[in-house]
Amino acid sequence: MLESMTPSGSLTTAVRRMPKTSNLPLIGSLPQLLRDPFGFVAQARATHGDIYRLNLGLINVVVLNQPRHAQYVLRDNAANYSKSGPMWNAVRGMLGNGLVVSEGDFWLRQRRMMQPQFHRQRLAALQTLMVEAIAEALDSWEVAADGATPFDLTPGFNRLTMKVIVRTLFGTGLTAQEMDDTAEAMTYALDFLMKAILVEPLPRWLPVPGRKKYQQALARFDEIVYGIIAQCRAGKLSDDHLLAMLLDVVDEETGEGMTDQQLRDEVATLFLAGYETTSLALSWAFHHLMQHPEMMGKLQAEVDSALNGRQPTLADLPQLPYTRMVLQEAMRLQPPSYWLPRTAVADDEIDGYHIPAGTQVVSLTYMYHRHPEHWENADQFDPERFTPERSANRHRYAWIPFGAGQRLCIGRDFAMMEGQLALAMVAQRFNITAVPDHEVKPMLSSTLRPKNGVMVTLEKRA
Ligand code: HEM
Repeated sequence: MLESMTPSGSLTTAVRRMPKTSNLPLIGSLPQLLRDPFGFVAQARATHGDIYRLNLGLINVVVLNQPRHAQYVLRDNAANYSKSGPMWNAVRGMLGNGLVVSEGDFWLRQRRMMQPQFHRQRLAALQTLMVEAIAEALDSWEVAADGATPFDLTPGFNRLTMKVIVRTLFGTGLTAQEMDDTAEAMTYALDFLMKAILVEPLPRWLPVPGRKKYQQALARFDEIVYGIIAQCRAGKLSDDHLLAMLLDVVDEETGEGMTDQQLRDEVATLFLAGYETTSLALSWAFHHLMQHPEMMGKLQAEVDSALNGRQPTLADLPQLPYTRMVLQEAMRLQPPSYWLPRTAVADDEIDGYHIPAGTQVVSLTYMYHRHPEHWENADQFDPERFTPERSANRHRYAWIPFGAGQRLCIGRDFAMMEGQLALAMVAQRFNITAVPDHEVKPMLSSTLRPKNGVMVTLEKRA
């Protein structure tokens, strides 16, 4: 029965009228949303409650703000909430049938094949590549530290996590030129994505500025990836990287591996899903630490005592609990994937409101993470919320930066490992202070990016 499945547990079938953010035709609440997106959604929840209809003129979406809603649409009734709609269609243009966008039996088959490669034991095999890539990226930060010039952490971390994903996916198989081209192509494609989402409903023949360059970027990416797949298949490369692991996996039922095309889609997916998200978590973490020098000091003290000046390994991570909590808290306040859109397949009901088939529903992680019923002083940065004692009675879906249910991020352990290692290695090597008067605030984008970056001064530590 539909009633017994609703997240509120309500048995009512009476259809309530859902609050709406605006009655204006054509533009709805779009101007306010564009002006201050995150202030707007916080205000909208306070005004309209945990579930409301966001009117954006041409598009109307239902916004969900309570952790129990996440449990419902991402797990309990996930089968009714599909990855269709403009956002996912635009992403499909880039990722083909990769894991983030595929659905049904095909998704399940791919997920089963790929999952074991992301288990902790398998990831341990990637730790050397990861630490080396981070160390190399930080060598280039030293130039900024020597020159005492202002440094933008956001592109700095983008380059770092890009290096990590390129290295862990391909080992040392790419030439320096190919590595730069891959980074450039993926950065451009990701920047274009928000535009691609907005123009997705328009006819293909309409010219869209940037689309040609986007297609060229994807073509260059494909050329490099197909080239390296061919080399791997021919046994010409080492096998200590993710691509080699994916080349080896076979479907248990059919005994078949992935086609080149599917491998390309999965590689593009891991790229897209994996590099900017982790980079943003790191940028926001340092943004908060700089506002709280005592916390920065605590982090550095923990790192210095656990590592004693040497490079970290996976075995050190349990000795870096505060580092982990800083990352968790940064992802609470600024979850890189702050919204998860879905489309209702059949009619449904949430909290007594009718959800007709075809409704676009947004699971708003950003608000789950700040919901006043689940978080005390929700807007304050406080890493120690994540101590086991203080986490004990928390709603399971109150903190879901990696999503939830069967579509939970496959790279969660990878990202936490990389994030913890990178935080520790940066804190070990640099003192970081904010450039005065540089305002850091989030912008409306497909991921939660800081508008104008995070400008800092780097100083090499003794
Ligand atoms: C801090 C870093 C990361 C964050 C915040 C993050 C967040 C997420 C979220 C929220 C989802 C669920 C999307 C949905 O339900 O619509 C997801 C899925 C996914 N992520 Fe991550 N992710 C991160 C890092 C990574 C990394 C490093 C990789 C790979 C190397 C990765 C690969 C994937 C893939 C393949 C999926 C699709 C899983 C599926 O649907 O079966 N992610 N991620």
